[in-house]
Amino acid sequence: MIPHPRKIIIDTDPGQDDAFAILLALASPAEVEVLGIVAVAGNVPLALTQKNTRMICELAGKPQTKVFAGCDRPLQRKLVTAEHVHGKTGLDGPILPEPVMALQDQHGVDFIIETLRREPAGTVTLCPLGPLTNIAQAFLQAPDVIARVQEIVLMGGAYFQVGNITPAAEFNIYVDPEAAAIVFKSGVPLVVMPLDVTHKVLTTRARVEAFRAIGSPVGRVAADWADFFERFDKEKYGSDGGPLHDPTVIAYLIQPDLFKGRHINVEIETQSELTLGMTVADWWGVTDRPANAYFIGDVDAQGFFDLLTERLARL
Ligand code: RIB
Ligand code: CA
Repeated sequence: MIPHPRKIIIDTDPGQDDAFAILLALASPAEVEVLGIVAVAGNVPLALTQKNTRMICELAGKPQTKVFAGCDRPLQRKLVTAEHVHGKTGLDGPILPEPVMALQDQHGVDFIIETLRREPAGTVTLCPLGPLTNIAQAFLQAPDVIARVQEIVLMGGAYFQVGNITPAAEFNIYVDPEAAAIVFKSGVPLVVMPLDVTHKVLTTRARVEAFRAIGSPVGRVAADWADFFERFDKEKYGSDGGPLHDPTVIAYLIQPDLFKGRHINVEIETQSELTLGMTVADWWGVTDRPANAYFIGDVDAQGFFDLLTERLARL
């Protein structure tokens, strides 16, 4: 068990669900020390994800948080975005004030490299919540930092739930499959929150009302984000709410026993157009490929929402 507080860098493409993850992290200083937050192009273009990240930090009352802009497109491919899920701003639902806090001048990839070189080896965890472009770019630019990463805890991929952006692929992996392949082959210890587990943490009515019942601006905005965000998945899957994908990453750092998974091999499809971005997870151990990921399949969903709601109430 890695001791608290864990030093982390969040890499993110807000996105309402990313926003819950950032709020949860900023509300939990005893468990996670946020060294910085790096925005990446994903759900919406970088100009919006970096602005949204600052708006979320200000909503949390943490304008001193260091926010950086990272890569504005995947390593090799055209950017694919998800306005159909998150709205044209990426944070549709409530109206939030324009951000006042500054964006850091340093490029987010340089911040990741510099931080990993400065902090003692093995003490910084990377928490990607979007396409893995910034992480892969840091590893390409500075291979010496790879061995210095304590762990990567990411949201991405799927096995039993297959794809949400194509029949075969989950969005974060699909947007930059070459970056994902670099990260999954890097040898860094990986904890993966795939759709298999995030589709079990649904924003049911009772859970959204619990956000609203907090009675603070954070509680109201959280409920309004959930109300907007859930409509896409409810329509597509007929589910009883929207899956809060990204905060599972931060909840794992705070309370890992909420989650269950298997250490398995996971590789990324980067050649076939038909299955591009698929996470080929050897869940049943049918190959002798080495285990490179702790792949999460189950969660105490109510325990997750109780933790999330209790922490949002602290902001
Ligand atoms: O497929 C879900 C993932 O894609 C989440 O991280 C969501 O925010 C989007 O980035
Ligand atoms: Ca995301």
